[in-house]
Amino acid sequence: MSVKAATGQRERGSSAAARGVARIVRGMPTSDGAGVKLTRVIGQPQLSELDPFLLLDEFGTDNPGDYIAGFPEHPHRGFETVTYMLDGRMRHRDNHGHEGVLVPGSVQWMTAGRGIVHSEMPEQQEGRMRGFQLWINLPGRDKMTAPRYQEFGPERMPVATPSAGVRVKVIAGRVGDVAGPIVQPATDPLYLDIELAAGARFSQALPADHSAFLYVFEGAVRVIAGEEESTALRTHDLAVLRRGERVELEGDGVRGSAGRTGPAAASSAPSRVILVAGRPLREPVARHGPFVMNTREELLQAFEDYQSGRF
Ligand code: CO
Repeated sequence: MSVKAATGQRERGSSAAARGVARIVRGMPTSDGAGVKLTRVIGQPQLSELDPFLLLDEFGTDNPGDYIAGFPEHPHRGFETVTYMLDGRMRHRDNHGHEGVLVPGSVQWMTAGRGIVHSEMPEQQEGRMRGFQLWINLPGRDKMTAPRYQEFGPERMPVATPSAGVRVKVIAGRVGDVAGPIVQPATDPLYLDIELAAGARFSQALPADHSAFLYVFEGAVRVIAGEEESTALRTHDLAVLRRGERVELEGDGVRGSAGRTGPAAASSAPSRVILVAGRPLREPVARHGPFVMNTREELLQAFEDYQSGRF
């Protein structure tokens, strides 16, 4: 999928350490909870994990029948779940008395730690419901930590505008002087929602050894990895990025439906991607459903603790 592109006239700056695309993964339609239809991008046979990321689901449909039964009571132990709502709401409630409603543009960063039992019920707003859930692993030393939430509404989510045609919502990490509200020293995550006008470019520094991926959820983008290397990504592509010190993107615009056969005209609508990176834990993963531990014994203990009501 790596396309050798003509360089063009533009200044590219130093590309030596820019990350290229290691592989492209397409999401797999699946259902979870009480029959919620979703697209599983990480945590499926093509990409079972990308240390420290264990799962990425994209949910979104205009048909309430696809999700209305939601995710009734279920447990988690040993990792974090990050829910980012684009449209619609998510009503949640846990066994420690924490409950609320996530509105469009809000993020819930839940550290399950030693255990929570909760329900997550999607609701549409103005006929729409759309968002992501990402699971991030915790190191062994933090798996049995007390559960905690970091929740931020859209008004608390800072936006960076590093150049013309580029708008970046900073959920975690830093874009220039703009820092996201989420704090997680264990994996030092970056989580950006990036809007790119057609032809606009964005470059983001990344720690060289952190795992990183891009997921396109509207339009199309190019990953510029060098003077002569760029990779085209379309909607619903996840690109695993190679190691390197930065990533550079260019908006390719939203393609018209005629794009399949004729020359695809980029419209004025921006493309949207999430860019996520984090420090790999490099620990053994013993995983079954909603429990993610280091050893099989710890996994069995998690089942036992859950079944005997110790969450
Ligand atoms: Co859950």
